[in-house]
Amino acid sequence: MNPKHATTDHPVLDVIAQRYSPYAYEPRGVEPAKLLSCLEAARWAASSYNEQPWRFIVARREDAKEFARMVDCLLEANQAWAKQAGVLMLTVTSRTFSRNGKPNRVCEHDVGLAVGNLCAQATALGLAVHQMAGINLTIARQTYGIPEGFDPVTAIAVGYAADPATADPALAQRDRTPRTRLPLAEIVFAGNWGKSVVL
Ligand SMILES: Cc1cc2nc3c(=O)[nH]c(=O)nc-3n(C[C@H](O)[C@H](O)[C@H](O)COP(=O)(O)O)c2cc1C
Repeated sequence: MNPKHATTDHPVLDVIAQRYSPYAYEPRGVEPAKLLSCLEAARWAASSYNEQPWRFIVARREDAKEFARMVDCLLEANQAWAKQAGVLMLTVTSRTFSRNGKPNRVCEHDVGLAVGNLCAQATALGLAVHQMAGINLTIARQTYGIPEGFDPVTAIAVGYAADPATADPALAQRDRTPRTRLPLAEIVFAGNWGKSVVL
């Protein structure tokens, strides 16, 4: 089994157990139909007041010039591996509700939900997604003319995970390291903060 496959304490959907954030990508594009399915899955996420604060800026490696502009928005450590991926995206959020102009306190939460949907759809299609906080916000805003009221949130690499043996050894090691998580007892409480729930 892939060492990245989650060893779960309770049964979960296959796409959740299989999903991981690879560092080694095959340097090839993603079929447009698959990419559209991933974005469609994101589109159907739930959001507060159905505001749908998420926006996606997409660059496909087939368009070398556009792809390079997106790579330039990433921090160097992420550029090193993400430039191999088939697709790079920026996620952007609207900060305020269109219905009344008030601040949307949960806008980034909703962007995350949309990306969660995208990850599940991508995994089901044999694709791998690696999200990045490490972006240059100023360059991203300037490069794409992101207007006031909208903020870049993350970048996302989407593509086909490669055999780690094909990657730089330091990165390959990360792709061989099993995924770990805090136990439920440390993250799920009942009654009082820190009091583990017994189900
Ligand atoms: C919002 C977010 C930001 C992240 N930023 C980066 C990043 O800038 N660079 C990176 O290499 N990995 C980044 N990651 C990947 C995480 O390190 C990874 O999801 C985590 O270690 C768990 O591994 P897994 O996704 O394989 O389960 C990010 C993940 C998320 C969700």
